[in-house]
Amino acid sequence: MDNKKVTVPLVVEKKLKGEKIVMVTAYDFWSAQVVDSAEVDIVLVGDSVGMVFSGYKNTLPVTLEEIIYHTKAVSRGVKNALIVADMPYGSFHLSIEESCKNCIKIIKETGAQAVKVEGARVDLIKSLIDIEIPVMGHLGLTPQSIHKLGGYKVQGKSEQEKEYIYKSAKKIEEAGAFSLVLECVPEDLAKDITQELNIPTIGIGAGKYCDGQVLVFHDILGCFEWAPKFVKKYTNLRKVAIEAIKNFSKEVKAGVFPE
Ligand code: KIV
Repeated sequence: MDNKKVTVPLVVEKKLKGEKIVMVTAYDFWSAQVVDSAEVDIVLVGDSVGMVFSGYKNTLPVTLEEIIYHTKAVSRGVKNALIVADMPYGSFHLSIEESCKNCIKIIKETGAQAVKVEGARVDLIKSLIDIEIPVMGHLGLTPQSIHKLGGYKVQGKSEQEKEYIYKSAKKIEEAGAFSLVLECVPEDLAKDITQELNIPTIGIGAGKYCDGQVLVFHDILGCFEWAPKFVKKYTNLRKVAIEAIKNFSKEVKAGVFPE
Protein backbone atom coordinates (compact mmCIF):
# COMPACT_ATOMS: atom_id res chain seq x y z
CA MET A 1 0.00 0.00 0.00
CA ASP A 2 1.13 3.54 -0.79
CA ASN A 3 2.61 4.83 2.47
CA LYS A 4 0.81 8.17 2.05
CA LYS A 5 -2.59 6.46 1.88
CA VAL A 6 -4.84 7.62 4.72
CA THR A 7 -6.40 4.77 6.67
CA VAL A 8 -9.08 4.58 9.35
CA PRO A 9 -6.53 4.04 12.19
CA LEU A 10 -4.50 7.03 10.93
CA VAL A 11 -7.58 9.26 11.18
CA VAL A 12 -8.20 8.14 14.77
CA GLU A 13 -4.51 8.64 15.60
CA LYS A 14 -4.76 12.27 14.45
CA LYS A 15 -6.98 13.05 17.42
CA LEU A 16 -4.43 11.56 19.83
CA LYS A 17 -1.71 13.66 18.21
CA GLY A 18 -3.87 16.80 18.33
CA GLU A 19 -3.74 17.15 14.53
CA LYS A 20 -6.85 18.64 12.88
CA ILE A 21 -8.67 16.46 10.33
CA VAL A 22 -9.84 17.88 7.01
CA MET A 23 -12.70 16.33 5.08
CA VAL A 24 -14.16 17.60 1.78
CA THR A 25 -16.88 16.11 -0.39
CA ALA A 26 -16.29 14.96 -3.97
CA TYR A 27 -18.62 13.30 -6.42
CA ASP A 28 -16.65 12.79 -9.61
CA PHE A 29 -13.18 12.00 -10.97
CA TRP A 30 -12.11 15.65 -11.40
CA SER A 31 -13.26 16.94 -8.02
CA ALA A 32 -11.71 13.87 -6.38
CA GLN A 33 -8.36 14.63 -8.05
CA VAL A 34 -8.57 18.26 -6.94
CA VAL A 35 -9.42 17.43 -3.33
CA ASP A 36 -6.80 14.69 -3.14
CA SER A 37 -4.14 16.96 -4.65
CA ALA A 38 -4.98 19.52 -1.96
CA GLU A 39 -3.91 16.83 0.55
CA VAL A 40 -7.14 16.58 2.50
CA ASP A 41 -7.40 13.61 4.85
CA ILE A 42 -10.85 12.34 3.93
CA VAL A 43 -12.94 12.52 0.76
CA LEU A 44 -16.63 12.09 1.51
CA VAL A 45 -18.91 11.00 -1.30
CA GLY A 46 -21.80 12.70 0.46
CA ASP A 47 -25.46 12.32 -0.35
CA SER A 48 -25.27 16.10 -0.80
CA VAL A 49 -24.52 14.92 -4.36
CA GLY A 50 -28.29 14.89 -4.75
CA MET A 51 -28.51 18.63 -4.18
CA VAL A 52 -25.31 20.05 -5.69
CA PHE A 53 -24.89 17.59 -8.59
CA SER A 54 -28.42 16.42 -9.43
CA GLY A 55 -30.30 19.53 -8.35
CA TYR A 56 -32.79 17.79 -6.02
CA LYS A 57 -34.37 19.96 -3.28
CA ASN A 58 -33.05 17.65 -0.56
CA THR A 59 -30.96 14.48 -0.19
CA LEU A 60 -33.86 12.04 0.11
CA PRO A 61 -34.10 10.95 -3.55
CA VAL A 62 -30.44 9.81 -3.73
CA THR A 63 -30.21 6.08 -4.40
CA LEU A 64 -27.68 3.42 -3.50
CA GLU A 65 -26.88 3.06 -7.22
CA GLU A 66 -26.10 6.80 -7.45
CA ILE A 67 -23.73 6.65 -4.46
CA ILE A 68 -22.05 3.58 -6.01
CA TYR A 69 -21.65 5.35 -9.37
CA HIS A 70 -20.18 8.51 -7.81
CA THR A 71 -17.94 6.66 -5.35
CA LYS A 72 -16.45 4.60 -8.19
CA ALA A 73 -15.64 7.80 -10.08
CA VAL A 74 -14.13 9.38 -6.95
CA SER A 75 -12.01 6.27 -6.28
CA ARG A 76 -10.45 6.63 -9.71
CA GLY A 77 -9.38 10.18 -8.82
CA VAL A 78 -8.06 9.63 -5.27
CA LYS A 79 -4.56 8.41 -4.51
CA ASN A 80 -4.14 9.18 -0.82
CA ALA A 81 -7.24 10.41 0.99
CA LEU A 82 -9.49 8.06 2.93
CA ILE A 83 -12.67 7.49 0.93
CA VAL A 84 -15.96 7.45 2.83
CA ALA A 85 -19.27 6.71 1.10
CA ASP A 86 -22.45 8.20 2.53
CA MET A 87 -25.29 5.68 2.89
CA PRO A 88 -28.32 7.27 1.20
CA TYR A 89 -31.81 7.49 2.64
CA GLY A 90 -33.58 4.13 2.52
CA SER A 91 -30.41 2.08 2.17
CA PHE A 92 -29.94 1.49 5.92
CA HIS A 93 -33.38 2.05 7.38
CA LEU A 94 -35.03 -1.35 7.07
CA SER A 95 -33.59 -4.58 8.48
CA ILE A 96 -30.03 -4.78 9.78
CA GLU A 97 -29.44 -7.61 7.30
CA GLU A 98 -30.50 -5.55 4.29
CA SER A 99 -28.54 -2.52 5.54
CA CYS A 100 -25.40 -4.63 5.99
CA LYS A 101 -25.87 -6.09 2.48
CA ASN A 102 -26.04 -2.55 1.04
CA CYS A 103 -22.89 -1.49 2.90
CA ILE A 104 -21.05 -4.64 1.76
CA LYS A 105 -22.06 -3.80 -1.83
CA ILE A 106 -20.59 -0.30 -1.45
CA ILE A 107 -17.29 -1.60 -0.03
CA LYS A 108 -16.99 -4.41 -2.60
CA GLU A 109 -17.83 -2.35 -5.68
CA THR A 110 -16.54 1.18 -5.11
CA GLY A 111 -13.18 1.37 -3.37
CA ALA A 112 -14.68 3.18 -0.35
CA GLN A 113 -12.85 2.35 2.87
CA ALA A 114 -15.72 3.26 5.21
CA VAL A 115 -19.37 4.26 5.22
CA LYS A 116 -21.17 7.14 6.92
CA VAL A 117 -24.62 6.63 8.45
CA GLU A 118 -26.85 9.40 9.75
CA GLY A 119 -28.47 9.13 13.18
CA ALA A 120 -28.02 7.10 16.34
CA ARG A 121 -28.30 3.71 14.61
CA VAL A 122 -26.34 1.95 17.29
CA ASP A 123 -27.31 -1.65 16.50
CA LEU A 124 -26.54 -1.19 12.82
CA ILE A 125 -23.16 0.39 13.61
CA LYS A 126 -22.30 -2.60 15.84
CA SER A 127 -23.30 -5.03 13.07
CA LEU A 128 -21.20 -3.16 10.49
CA ILE A 129 -18.17 -3.23 12.76
CA ASP A 130 -18.75 -6.99 13.19
CA ILE A 131 -18.51 -7.44 9.41
CA GLU A 132 -15.32 -5.33 9.17
CA ILE A 133 -16.88 -2.13 7.80
CA PRO A 134 -15.59 1.05 9.46
CA VAL A 135 -18.36 3.53 10.24
CA MET A 136 -18.45 7.32 10.48
CA GLY A 137 -21.43 8.51 12.54
CA HIS A 138 -23.42 11.70 11.89
CA LEU A 139 -25.47 13.59 14.50
CA GLY A 140 -27.11 16.98 14.93
CA LEU A 141 -28.75 18.21 11.77
CA THR A 142 -29.09 14.97 9.85
CA PRO A 143 -30.44 16.09 6.45
CA GLN A 144 -32.17 12.75 5.81
CA SER A 145 -34.47 13.61 8.78
CA ILE A 146 -35.57 16.91 7.14
CA HIS A 147 -39.27 16.14 7.35
CA LYS A 148 -39.08 15.01 11.00
CA LEU A 149 -36.98 18.07 11.93
CA GLY A 150 -39.17 20.47 9.94
CA GLY A 151 -36.30 21.96 7.95
CA TYR A 152 -32.57 22.54 8.03
CA LYS A 153 -32.32 23.98 11.55
CA VAL A 154 -29.63 24.07 14.23
CA GLN A 155 -30.09 21.06 16.53
CA GLY A 156 -29.24 20.75 20.23
CA LYS A 157 -30.45 24.15 21.36
CA SER A 158 -32.70 22.94 24.19
CA GLU A 159 -31.31 21.03 27.19
CA GLN A 160 -33.33 17.98 26.15
CA GLU A 161 -31.94 17.97 22.58
CA LYS A 162 -28.43 18.59 23.93
CA GLU A 163 -28.66 15.60 26.21
CA TYR A 164 -30.00 13.40 23.41
CA ILE A 165 -27.17 14.33 21.05
CA TYR A 166 -24.51 14.00 23.76
CA LYS A 167 -25.75 10.56 24.86
CA SER A 168 -26.12 9.41 21.23
CA ALA A 169 -22.53 10.46 20.52
CA LYS A 170 -21.32 8.30 23.40
CA LYS A 171 -23.40 5.35 22.19
CA ILE A 172 -22.06 5.71 18.64
CA GLU A 173 -18.50 5.63 19.97
CA GLU A 174 -19.29 2.60 22.14
CA ALA A 175 -20.82 0.85 19.11
CA GLY A 176 -17.43 1.11 17.41
CA ALA A 177 -17.64 4.07 14.99
CA PHE A 178 -14.22 5.53 14.16
CA SER A 179 -15.37 9.16 13.85
CA LEU A 180 -18.44 11.33 14.16
CA VAL A 181 -19.76 14.21 12.05
CA LEU A 182 -21.49 16.92 14.11
CA GLU A 183 -23.65 19.08 11.87
CA CYS A 184 -25.23 22.39 12.91
CA VAL A 185 -25.03 22.05 16.68
CA PRO A 186 -24.05 24.76 19.17
CA GLU A 187 -20.32 25.20 19.65
CA ASP A 188 -20.41 24.40 23.38
CA LEU A 189 -22.16 21.08 22.73
CA ALA A 190 -19.66 20.15 20.01
CA LYS A 191 -16.85 21.08 22.43
CA ASP A 192 -18.24 18.88 25.23
CA ILE A 193 -18.69 15.91 22.87
CA THR A 194 -15.22 16.39 21.39
CA GLN A 195 -13.65 16.41 24.87
CA GLU A 196 -15.64 13.38 25.98
CA LEU A 197 -15.04 11.09 22.98
CA ASN A 198 -11.84 9.26 22.10
CA ILE A 199 -12.85 9.14 18.43
CA PRO A 200 -12.51 12.33 16.35
CA THR A 201 -15.44 14.66 15.78
CA ILE A 202 -15.69 16.39 12.41
CA GLY A 203 -17.78 19.54 12.47
CA ILE A 204 -19.86 21.39 9.92
CA GLY A 205 -21.54 24.46 11.33
CA ALA A 206 -20.52 23.19 14.78
CA GLY A 207 -17.82 25.68 15.75
CA LYS A 208 -14.08 25.50 16.13
CA TYR A 209 -13.58 22.89 18.85
CA CYS A 210 -14.20 19.78 16.74
CA ASP A 211 -11.22 17.58 15.88
CA GLY A 212 -11.78 18.30 12.21
CA GLN A 213 -13.94 20.22 9.76
CA VAL A 214 -15.88 19.22 6.67
CA LEU A 215 -17.36 21.35 3.91
CA VAL A 216 -19.08 20.60 0.64
CA PHE A 217 -16.74 21.01 -2.38
CA HIS A 218 -19.13 23.33 -4.24
CA ASP A 219 -19.53 25.57 -1.18
CA ILE A 220 -15.77 26.03 -0.61
CA LEU A 221 -15.36 27.00 -4.25
CA GLY A 222 -18.37 29.31 -4.45
CA CYS A 223 -20.07 27.32 -7.21
CA PHE A 224 -23.53 28.55 -6.22
CA GLU A 225 -24.80 32.02 -5.36
CA TRP A 226 -26.40 30.69 -2.17
CA ALA A 227 -24.50 28.85 0.56
CA PRO A 228 -25.32 27.94 4.17
CA LYS A 229 -24.40 30.65 6.76
CA PHE A 230 -21.50 28.69 8.25
CA VAL A 231 -19.76 28.28 4.86
CA LYS A 232 -16.66 30.24 3.96
CA LYS A 233 -16.32 30.60 0.19
CA TYR A 234 -12.61 30.49 -0.61
CA THR A 235 -13.15 31.58 -4.21
CA ASN A 236 -15.96 32.39 -6.63
CA LEU A 237 -15.68 29.59 -9.15
CA ARG A 238 -19.17 30.31 -10.48
CA LYS A 239 -18.05 33.78 -11.58
CA VAL A 240 -14.75 32.49 -12.99
CA ALA A 241 -16.54 29.73 -14.93
CA ILE A 242 -19.22 32.06 -16.33
CA GLU A 243 -16.51 34.53 -17.43
CA ALA A 244 -14.53 31.77 -19.16
CA ILE A 245 -17.57 30.39 -21.01
CA LYS A 246 -18.64 33.93 -21.99
CA ASN A 247 -15.17 34.59 -23.40
CA PHE A 248 -15.28 31.35 -25.39
CA SER A 249 -18.71 32.26 -26.70
CA LYS A 250 -17.60 35.80 -27.65
CA GLU A 251 -14.55 34.48 -29.49
CA VAL A 252 -16.58 31.88 -31.42
CA LYS A 253 -19.13 34.51 -32.42
CA ALA A 254 -16.38 36.94 -33.45
CA GLY A 255 -14.52 34.27 -35.45
CA VAL A 256 -11.45 34.63 -33.20
CA PHE A 257 -11.52 31.01 -32.02
CA PRO A 258 -10.24 28.70 -33.47
CA GLU A 259 -7.31 30.81 -34.56
O1 KIV B 1 -23.65 14.68 2.36
C1 KIV B 1 -22.75 15.39 2.82
O2 KIV B 1 -22.06 16.11 2.09
C2 KIV B 1 -22.55 15.36 4.26
C3 KIV B 1 -21.58 16.34 4.84
C4 KIV B 1 -22.05 17.71 4.73
C5 KIV B 1 -21.20 15.98 6.23
O3 KIV B 1 -23.14 14.59 4.93
